[in-house]
Amino acid sequence: MSFVRNAWYVAGWSSDFGNELKALTIVDQTLVMFRCADGALVALEDRCPHRQLPLSKGKRIGDTIQCGYHGMTFGRDGKCVRVPGQDNLPASAYVETYPVHEQHQIVWVWMGDPDQADPDDIFDLPEFSDPAWQAHQGSALHIKAHYLNVAENLVDPAHVSFVHPTTLGSAASENVPVHVRANDDIIVAWRWIRDAAPVGFFQDFGGFKGHVDRWHYYSLHLPSTAVIDFGSADTSLNLAEDDRDAGVRIFALHFVTPVTEDYTIDHWMHLRNTAVGDSEASERMDRMFEVAFAEDKAILEAIHLEEMRPQKRRPIRLAIDKGPTVYRKRIRDLIEIEVTENLGAVRSTFVQHD
Ligand code: FES
Ligand SMILES: [Fe+2]
Repeated sequence: MSFVRNAWYVAGWSSDFGNELKALTIVDQTLVMFRCADGALVALEDRCPHRQLPLSKGKRIGDTIQCGYHGMTFGRDGKCVRVPGQDNLPASAYVETYPVHEQHQIVWVWMGDPDQADPDDIFDLPEFSDPAWQAHQGSALHIKAHYLNVAENLVDPAHVSFVHPTTLGSAASENVPVHVRANDDIIVAWRWIRDAAPVGFFQDFGGFKGHVDRWHYYSLHLPSTAVIDFGSADTSLNLAEDDRDAGVRIFALHFVTPVTEDYTIDHWMHLRNTAVGDSEASERMDRMFEVAFAEDKAILEAIHLEEMRPQKRRPIRLAIDKGPTVYRKRIRDLIEIEVTENLGAVRSTFVQHD
């Protein structure tokens, strides 16, 4: 299994959740979510402990869910409140609950050990609440691919020239080296393309006509949130690395949620320090990103199919792969820590109640 469980994952945007029961899968675990009468979101295991019908196929009654098979009913805390045909409520008649946290209209769910869930660990950026910046939620890209390949793509600036030639890249960057640095939680791969014609994105946003310096900083926050900080500034400014705010600067955020080993959802949004308050510009930016991300999706799904076929040898690694290589190692380490922590956990196959 290749999932990190002790992590907050994005379940959706706040606007995705209402009164109705919503079924979703994260790290191969099924959840049913709904918004309670007091506005709080709950996430419960989507599997009745009786015959395992997903509770999302049942009925919401107030802040409880009634199973659609024999009517066992569960409260927002996961405890059974009713078993039709008997008065006693067995202690094992419950479903798991998952910690949920909403922040900046984004819904996060903790999929691991509840005792380790700390909302302070949730990804955040000061620009979310900075009036000089515009945040805009884009959409959710559904990709038939393994999440590690999706996330790896987001710490891989070297693909941009080849996969996104009309929007984010150009031939001018094909041979520019990629730098990588990493600490415990974040891997950053970056490069500058100095003194080159503006790419399509910055001809539109920024209106650059002459040569620009363009940067791409791909930061991957473990396990799978990516910030792509990219922008351009007139080459005559000779912008220093840390002065990127003086240029036209955009953050593309990707919240990569592993669904199963074969399916990943990438909730993406963007923040920018230009055209603030201009909703038409937000829409235009969405359209450009949609073009670019469809290009990534096509590549990633084709790779996934190929990875499923029998192979005679392992894929090779190149100089440009520093970011992805470090990323995979960090994920392996995190999973190993979790597996070690769980050693000794015993599970029985069923519990009988008379
Ligand atoms: S399967 Fe849910 S009550 Fe029987
Ligand atoms: Fe891409």
